[in-house]
Amino acid sequence: PFQVELARTGTVLTVPAHSSVLDVITAAGADVLSSCRQGVCGTCEVTVLAGEPDHRDSVLDDAERAAGTCMFVCVSRSRTDRLVLDL
Ligand code: FES
Repeated sequence: PFQVELARTGTVLTVPAHSSVLDVITAAGADVLSSCRQGVCGTCEVTVLAGEPDHRDSVLDDAERAAGTCMFVCVSRSRTDRLVLDL
């Protein structure tokens, strides 16, 4: 498990192993659109302010992956204990 912080409200949520970031943040009221939910369409892009995403999508190229400034929350997870998202 890891935590996601929604920067605009300061809300901190825990993402369990069996749940996606998308599911956890939308259940908490974050307004994130999604479509494929498989990491291929790019709809669910979220800006990452802090922490290091564990990219599991098929959208980003290597440079974007390394930059770590955005993530696709339907599939990607976290390498750090907490991600701070621009939500
Ligand atoms: Fe398609 Fe996340 S919903 S990449």
